[in-house]
Amino acid sequence: MARRYKILGLIGDGIAEEIVPEAVKVLKAVEETFSLDLEIIGPHPFGAEYYLNSNKTVAWHPAITRELIYEADGIFKGPVGLPELMEDEKLNYDVGFLPVSLRSELDLYANIRPCRLRLGVQSPLVAKAPGGIDYVIVRENTEHCLSEATHFGGIRDISGYFMRAGKTHFSADVFIQTSEGCERVIRYAFNLSRKRNGAPIDGKRRVTCVCKWGLLRGDTLFKKTFDSVAPEYSDVEADLAWVDGWTYWAIMRPEFYDVVVTPNQYGDIISDLGGALQGSLGLAAALNAGDNHALAEATHGSAPDIAGSNMANPISLILAISMLLEWLSEKHGDSRLSAASMSIDRAVDAVLAEGKVRTPDLGGLSNTEQVGDAIVEKVKYQASVEDS
Ligand code: NAI
Ligand code: MG
Repeated sequence: MARRYKILGLIGDGIAEEIVPEAVKVLKAVEETFSLDLEIIGPHPFGAEYYLNSNKTVAWHPAITRELIYEADGIFKGPVGLPELMEDEKLNYDVGFLPVSLRSELDLYANIRPCRLRLGVQSPLVAKAPGGIDYVIVRENTEHCLSEATHFGGIRDISGYFMRAGKTHFSADVFIQTSEGCERVIRYAFNLSRKRNGAPIDGKRRVTCVCKWGLLRGDTLFKKTFDSVAPEYSDVEADLAWVDGWTYWAIMRPEFYDVVVTPNQYGDIISDLGGALQGSLGLAAALNAGDNHALAEATHGSAPDIAGSNMANPISLILAISMLLEWLSEKHGDSRLSAASMSIDRAVDAVLAEGKVRTPDLGGLSNTEQVGDAIVEKVKYQASVEDS
């Protein structure tokens, strides 16, 4: 009998309210088309606005329990954050279950962020043709800054300090890297490269280690770990770049890159550059993956500048759902999930290539729902053609 998968949805802030329903729509469409048995829980509200509405006491709906987070086979969430609350320490450090905490809580150590220029989309690098940019960032996701470093024995609340001496305010951020934390994400990157077709420039499988080694101790550990792991993957080229230089080459020669592995904070920054190179952050998907859990989200934030206008591009989160289904397929050896994942990806390709339905970030006039509907229609159409 087909296995039932429990998928937990979390809404978030800003455009989350607009893009999450479209992701649910597409998930339901592939459930029906591929005869999957999904228990979609929620999506439940959580995030900064929920926190404001609860008089700054709690940031998530009571149905989102720790047990549920662990029980779920997969999770998807909309972006979280209201800029005016960014410095609210209680929200950021105490309330918990915000994106960074979920990554630590579930040990989602690899954040996979593809950057692919698809047919029908114009990159700001105008000379680049579809397929000419096709790399994946593997961002270390549980160490460095932006993490609670609770894995490997649990060190909590080491991430920073504020101090004051007289008139002067001092602050310090502590970036922890461990050899185990570096190794597992670097191996993830090499294994991912083995599943891909190599870099657009020469078809070579290549993993580029991007950090600031030599100058920062944690990054030097990252690079040394890379050097020690790379020879085990002699079929994949090992490449190195300092992160500042990498941003130059990512613009000048993006076709050279296949898989890029990098510590947490650099991964955050260079992912948005990847969003631009592939034509819009609204296309930039992410999967936070560990050995036992996975969480799909968009690379971008809550986009307060366009929230409420129904103009946000939902494709980022829809492609993240596709990545989650692929991850589940590998974990459970269930090929129906992989077929569902591929069908979403092909449906997105078809909608973009046709160019009739697209949101303003891609130069169109369609709204968020119309893009979701067009993708659902393609999923169903492809299945009907394959059946006939
Ligand atoms: P942002 O990523 O929300 O927006 C940057 C630009 O991209 C904006 O012009 C926005 O309109 C555009 N954009 C983003 N997603 C889009 C979409 N789907 N369709 C069309 N246009 C899109 O970055 P920003 O403004 O720096 O951050 C806003 C809030 O989001 C902050 O509170 C931040 O902390 C939070 N954030 C949350 C993340 C998460 O939940 N994982 C990740 C990044 C930021
Ligand atoms: Mg970011």
